[in-house]
Amino acid sequence: MAEKLKGAAVFGQSGGPTSVINASAYGVIRTALDAPEITNVYGMAHGIVGILNDTLYDMSKEDAGELELLLNTPSSALGSCRYKLKTEEDLKRVHEILEKHNIRYFFYNGGNDSMDTCTKVSDYLEKVGYECRVVGVPKTIDNDLYGTDHCPGFGSAAKYIATSVAEVHKDAYVYDTGTITIVEIMGRNAGWLTGASALAGLSDAAPDLIYLPELPFDLDEFVADVERVYKEKNKCLVTISEGAQYADGTFVSHAKMSATDGFGHAQLGGTATTLASVINKRLGVKVRGIELSLLQRCAAHIASQTDIDEAFLAGKSAVEFALSGGSGKMVAFTREIKDGAYHCGISYQPLSICANTEKKIPREWINENGTYVTKEFIDYVLPLIQGENNRKLENSLPRFAKLKKIKV
Ligand code: F6P
Repeated sequence: MAEKLKGAAVFGQSGGPTSVINASAYGVIRTALDAPEITNVYGMAHGIVGILNDTLYDMSKEDAGELELLLNTPSSALGSCRYKLKTEEDLKRVHEILEKHNIRYFFYNGGNDSMDTCTKVSDYLEKVGYECRVVGVPKTIDNDLYGTDHCPGFGSAAKYIATSVAEVHKDAYVYDTGTITIVEIMGRNAGWLTGASALAGLSDAAPDLIYLPELPFDLDEFVADVERVYKEKNKCLVTISEGAQYADGTFVSHAKMSATDGFGHAQLGGTATTLASVINKRLGVKVRGIELSLLQRCAAHIASQTDIDEAFLAGKSAVEFALSGGSGKMVAFTREIKDGAYHCGISYQPLSICANTEKKIPREWINENGTYVTKEFIDYVLPLIQGENNRKLENSLPRFAKLKKIKV
């Protein structure tokens, strides 16, 4: 049994938000507020940037009911950032602020780059001998975090995508004239979200072709594939990842590395529009390009209850792990089958192996010619989108958490 460590806890959100990221926030904050060893619970304003600027919110001053509404409030309630800790100066400053507030528990919620932040903080505090337990909480709609079966946020985004693609399919097939529709989906260099569009097939509204960033994109082959389907059906519905790349590594969207975020990633988007224009020129057919963009990562109205529950569990488990003496790890999910049913288990993975490594769709879950996913892929995603959420409404509109965000 580890020695009890008395001190404050701090929690931060980093990277692109999800529709359930605040369920993890609630899992951390509620569990930490209830723990006798934890003397206070602070929220970072915009992730690690909030620590560097010494801008922290006192979570104990929030109304309990409002905190609970975090379970159904999309996007990062405390504010997010894409800031990479670069220098020793940054780390010294993190240490200084933690010591100033006697923070002994550090919880950071994010994807690969955020786990890099967590690793650096954990290693530095260990080096200077400041006792603080550092635990990563996974999050990303992209589902590309290494070391975990899946990521909180993915299931809800996958459900939104499958549903939206099924609905678009209904619309795209109404006219007696020919149409081609291209839907662009997020996910950066991993195709998990785009692959999830195949689940629209379970509503008898499957896309005809799916293009993933795991395989090099060939424009002529793409046009030929679309033309073949179009000739047969007088329609064609395509889904494609924002991160689709040619064999030489350039993005189909023509995203330039000059327009990068704080973590050094190109800002993607525009793939559907670019390809719609190519198809229109080459085939002379009516084409519509649709970019799901932010809609897919903030769609709390169609969130998966499984995803909400697991996001909460991830946050809660992080605090329990730290209270029991754990540090330097990220909470990870394991997939267990109990009595034939899906069950989510918890494990803890070293932060260093989760940081900066992208997990992609295995080749065997993509069909031979690279234009669809297999049944194994669909079986993997399906349990994660289950369950409807009974969220609080006012005026038939969502009632989101209203935090006071009182500065320390
Ligand atoms: O982090 C997930 C993600 O939504 C990616 O799918 C997408 O490419 C990126 O974030 C967009 O980030 P931003 O909102 O910073 O432009």
